[in-house]
Amino acid sequence: MEKEGVAPAPIVAGRGEATAGHASPLVLDAPTEMLSSPDGNLLGPVANKLARILLKYHKRKEDIISLLQDIQDEFGYLPRDVLRHLSKEIRVPEHEIYGVATFYSQFTFNEPGQHRLRICLGTACHVRGAVGVMEEVQRGTGIKPGQTSLDKQFSLETVMCVGACALGPVVVADGTYHGTMTPAKARKLIQDLREEGRP
Ligand code: FES
Repeated sequence: MEKEGVAPAPIVAGRGEATAGHASPLVLDAPTEMLSSPDGNLLGPVANKLARILLKYHKRKEDIISLLQDIQDEFGYLPRDVLRHLSKEIRVPEHEIYGVATFYSQFTFNEPGQHRLRICLGTACHVRGAVGVMEEVQRGTGIKPGQTSLDKQFSLETVMCVGACALGPVVVADGTYHGTMTPAKARKLIQDLREEGRP
């Protein structure tokens, strides 16, 4: 088991090094927090957060990736209400913003669960049984990649390599690497995470 940050490659790319080619599916059925008033305006604290982020940039189309990274850092995901307002502020159509956001695997559109699970489906993990591990995680959590469970306990993502191929199949749970995973180990991991914090 290794802590995130000691593996050879990062899961989430930093500024200017977004990882392309494996966007999580856009799932619109997960519960989201209330960020807008009924008239469509962002709630004050949310608007302030977005305004602070926008102040760092020049509202240029070229800054979209950095803006999305900052928004995700701030909210933990890319809230649709915030993206709608971002579109107005930087005068870039929403579909273009979604086009960029869905292209990069680091972005997610669902409010993250209390436990964030990332399953590596890269080649090295795949040939060692990552699909079976993912099926077990899906069974255990009741969600598919890109979704957050209704009780907000779990969110699930897939990634194409977390830089720990020798340990494959790898599941990263809340930043901790779990290597040589099997469906049985995955089941135990979900159980342990569920029980964490219970009285
Ligand atoms: S392919 Fe899974 S860690 Fe590299």
